[in-house]
Amino acid sequence: MKTRVLGKTGFNVSEIGLGCWQLGNDFGAIEDSEAAAILQAALNEGVQFFDTADVYGGGLSEQRIGQWRAALSKPPVIATKVGRNPELYPDGYSKAKVKQSLQASAQRLGVESIDLAQLHCVPRDVLFSGDLLAWMEDFKKDGIIQHFGASVEMLDEAMFCCDHPEIASLQILFNVFRQDAVESLLPLAEKNNVGVIVRLPLASGLLTGKMKLDRIFDEQDHRFYNKDGAAFHVGETFNGIPYEKGVALVDKLNGKLPEGHNILDVSLRWILDQPQVSSIIVGASRSSQVVRNAAASSLSPLSKELHEMLGDFYRSDVRNAIRGGI
Ligand SMILES: NC(=O)c1ccc[n+]([C@@H]2O[C@H](COP(=O)([O-])OP(=O)(O)OC[C@H]3O[C@@H](n4cnc5c(N)ncnc54)[C@H](OP(=O)(O)O)[C@@H]3O)[C@@H](O)[C@H]2O)c1
Repeated sequence: MKTRVLGKTGFNVSEIGLGCWQLGNDFGAIEDSEAAAILQAALNEGVQFFDTADVYGGGLSEQRIGQWRAALSKPPVIATKVGRNPELYPDGYSKAKVKQSLQASAQRLGVESIDLAQLHCVPRDVLFSGDLLAWMEDFKKDGIIQHFGASVEMLDEAMFCCDHPEIASLQILFNVFRQDAVESLLPLAEKNNVGVIVRLPLASGLLTGKMKLDRIFDEQDHRFYNKDGAAFHVGETFNGIPYEKGVALVDKLNGKLPEGHNILDVSLRWILDQPQVSSIIVGASRSSQVVRNAAASSLSPLSKELHEMLGDFYRSDVRNAIRGGI
């Protein structure tokens, strides 16, 4: 597993990280034993970067990571998020409550100071007011957190955060079906030494190529209850693309891939071919997926022709199908 530096944190993180939303049972129930197996499989494959949030399973994801981490002699980097729990979201933000939320996360994770705390898609006006970022600076000085970053929904929010002098990392939705950051955000992130963490690399699983029209999702799964953006941002689940359209787009793209290529590996490799990306936090609902995804770090870069085809396909077929703006 190759590593890259995560912006101003200076942490060496694995190119493939683990997204731990699934460990909160928010993609359907996962047994404790399987959750531990997923975490351990990741570590065994060289994954050194784990992403969670206080709201994943109402703290369950952090708890499971904390229990597993406690037995490790050399724990990996663990990033969490703050800003979406019901105490705070959408308009209950205060410095004291954010501090309490971070302290509760630290307790569940079993750490004195959080490696990286990310603002978690807070409302635009709250983000742009700048208060939360100023509080995070203070929490860093107080040692509650070591570094802070932000996870955002829109590119203009990412550009705003990227200009903040203390922000260490940005988490963005970025994949072959969401390419705009290549031209705008990535050069700025590189210039400002902000680490880029990529979420939804597989567009909630669409880009594995396994999703079929008759797939039935568990009622607890956001891909069931937020399929059309009814519960949270319309641009998030399935990358903001209506499911049936997404499946059709994947089928069409599959038909354009050169012999010997598959859409899952191509999707992960396309992201790693962007040098400004520090880590891809692929989500997994079973340990076999973790092993498969980790292998992307050893694949060769895609050819120039394949990059051109993927760029053309995005612009001609995909971009206009994304709801909610980019
Ligand atoms: N606002 C935010 O800050 C925010 C929002 C979303 C996500 N995130 C973070 O980003 C992480 C990644 O996003 P995501 O998990 O939503 O989307 P994703 O990584 O694009 O897709 C994950 C899903 O893809 C499928 N999958 C993954 N590897 C596979 C493999 N090798 N073979 C077959 N299927 C595979 C699994 O689907 P099945 O479950 O169907 O098997 C898995 O649940 C999350 O875990 C979370 O940490 C953050």
